[in-house]
Amino acid sequence: MEKQERDMKECPIGVFDSGVGGISVLRELYKIMPEEDYIYFGDSQNAPYGTKPLEEIRRLTITNIESLLKQGVKGVVVACNTATAAAVRILRGMYPGLPLVGIEPALKPAALQPGHPTVLVMATPMTIQGDKYKNLMMRYEKNADIIGLPCPGLMEFVETGNTEGEDVRQFLENLLSPYLREVDSIVLGCTHYPFVRALIQQLAGERIRIFDGGNGTAREMRRRLEAAGLRTTRSGLGAVTFENSLAQQEEIELCRTLFQKKWP
Ligand code: DGL
Repeated sequence: MEKQERDMKECPIGVFDSGVGGISVLRELYKIMPEEDYIYFGDSQNAPYGTKPLEEIRRLTITNIESLLKQGVKGVVVACNTATAAAVRILRGMYPGLPLVGIEPALKPAALQPGHPTVLVMATPMTIQGDKYKNLMMRYEKNADIIGLPCPGLMEFVETGNTEGEDVRQFLENLLSPYLREVDSIVLGCTHYPFVRALIQQLAGERIRIFDGGNGTAREMRRRLEAAGLRTTRSGLGAVTFENSLAQQEEIELCRTLFQKKWP
């Protein structure tokens, strides 16, 4: 038994997303737990999730978790706001005892800024329509004016590795310019968007603060693993393995590039 527990500690952490976006969360995990091993799975073949029906997102999410569990992960990070919104409650029921952490838009720190700020939440259509987001909004509507902005089409740029091009800049400008005068902060409510954060900040200007939930999610996973006694005892750098449902070498290379990309 003792040996089994010790072995469990040395298992990798599973992280998945509808595509390459969840690598923004993986980076935060790796920053605070570099000695852990990770398996990152991106379901790029079925991306985007954010414009799919709820039942389909749930089915895909469960398939992703099952495939990570088969590979012996000791915990799972749902590094996708859309999958979390669609399925996290069901997942907790299905996998009791598994350290399982989802991500939701970082509305709390944005809304709790002083002076009743106006907050723009950028996310997928599915996330904005979901009950989870509605509940989150209700919790903070006393503190801030909250505008939900569905951004269909934005994740596709990141999926092709385009995070700096003129076309993505133009797309963001069209999307954001009607709001920029009135908002005080922007929440990146989709894990693909931190990869275009530099462009968003450029368009928004220094006055507008940008929030993203990746770091909070990583810290929550660390807490959960510590509480379960599942942190590795190794020191040194762990291994990061990338898998993608497109099963093409270019996709794995894109994952590595995004993982190492210089962060603004
Ligand atoms: N990265 C996903 C999220 O955080 C969504 C992208 C998509 O598949 O639509 O919501």
